[in-house]
Amino acid sequence: MSKFMDWVDARFPATKMWEDHLSKYYAPKNFNFFYFFGSLALLVLVNQIVTGVWLTMSYTPSAEEAFASVEYIMRDVEYGSILRLLHSTGASAFFIVVYLHMFRGLLYGSYQKPRELVWVFGMLIYLALMAEAFMGYLLPWGQMSYWGAQVIISLFGAIPVIGNDLTQWIRGDYLISGITLNRFFALHVVALPIVILGLVVLHILALHEVGSNNPDGVDIKKHKDENGIPLDGIAFHPYYTVKDIVGVVVFLFIFCFIVFFFPEMGGYFLEKPNFEPANPFKTPEHIAPVWYFTPFYAILRAIPDKLMGVIAMGAAIAVLFVLPWLDRSPVKSMRYKGWMSKIWLLVFCISFVILGVLGVLAPTPERTLLSQVCTFLYFAYFILMPFYTRLEKTKPVPERVTG
Ligand code: HEM
Repeated sequence: MSKFMDWVDARFPATKMWEDHLSKYYAPKNFNFFYFFGSLALLVLVNQIVTGVWLTMSYTPSAEEAFASVEYIMRDVEYGSILRLLHSTGASAFFIVVYLHMFRGLLYGSYQKPRELVWVFGMLIYLALMAEAFMGYLLPWGQMSYWGAQVIISLFGAIPVIGNDLTQWIRGDYLISGITLNRFFALHVVALPIVILGLVVLHILALHEVGSNNPDGVDIKKHKDENGIPLDGIAFHPYYTVKDIVGVVVFLFIFCFIVFFFPEMGGYFLEKPNFEPANPFKTPEHIAPVWYFTPFYAILRAIPDKLMGVIAMGAAIAVLFVLPWLDRSPVKSMRYKGWMSKIWLLVFCISFVILGVLGVLAPTPERTLLSQVCTFLYFAYFILMPFYTRLEKTKPVPERVTG
């Protein structure tokens, strides 16, 4: 075996890569619950790719047959229903895991210097993931697939001058048709997965270049032993690989429970109108995107003007990209930040959740007002950040990690 590895290593850096990224990658020893979600995101990504490949074997991307081919997968293809539900539940699980992963970043200032690029690559993944989910949702060619896509694509029509041409270019037709379905299929199964995989590699390379942050936000490279190994670091493999298996098992228990018993999740993971084939002549009574898009949908609807709404929705995502440059705090972790940062993070999270709930519900004047207040607070969290992070009194950060 070792002779074989010598042969390989002389031609390909297999052992070097194993050591750089696993057995000699020293991660802080105080990782907590929130550090499970990076490896869980990888797990869900693999699940989506594997189940996606198998679904593609029986799915037909045409307006005439798409809906029926999904029914066929659910009823006749061996293990088809499990494959499909693993994939549809996987989409929601992906966003749950990624939202918690991003929340950890906010909590411990993981986006701060020197991890700005880790964050920016993460945000690019998030964008690509939204595009991937949006296009995947058209494929079953149900009522909500059709009308959800109709609402979102028509938003591009609000852009002055080029709006109409742009929507036509995206659809490839004067209305959403089999042509749109075909191109969304190509992007969903080939182009975007490649982009996401590439970005994940860049994300992890950028992280491993500078090393992981931790719940104390302490730089573990400041204190090293005589061999240059951080005193507060432990080898990722075997210590965190084993620890992550615990997270994987717990996650799989919950995930499989949902897949087997509540795959529709009361209409949140698989919406009810999507059990009806797409009908361009019948608009569903109430069109709502899947839950993971609803906070941004609520921001869109909060603004009465369509173009301004589209701009606000875009800005709500764009502002996350520049987060590393908005936080001026001398400390990273929420543990040592002042009370203003803590309150604003809480206000931000509550607003985001309320917006998510409002995005599912049909609008009323009261709900619109509430969504306007929450949109205001959402942006205030970012716009005021350079001020409150500099003004507030921070606690002293320990030299070494705690706990
Ligand atoms: C497919 C989606 C993603 C995958 C597979 C992924 C994977 C990972 C992995 C394996 C780690 C190291 C383990 C950990 O710290 O949990 C990590 C760290 C990190 N990720 Fe992601 N990630 C994804 C999306 C995102 C997104 C959307 C963001 C934010 C916009 C993000 C921001 C970060 C940050 C800031 C770190 C460093 C955390 C620290 O050291 O404290 N990631 N990611």
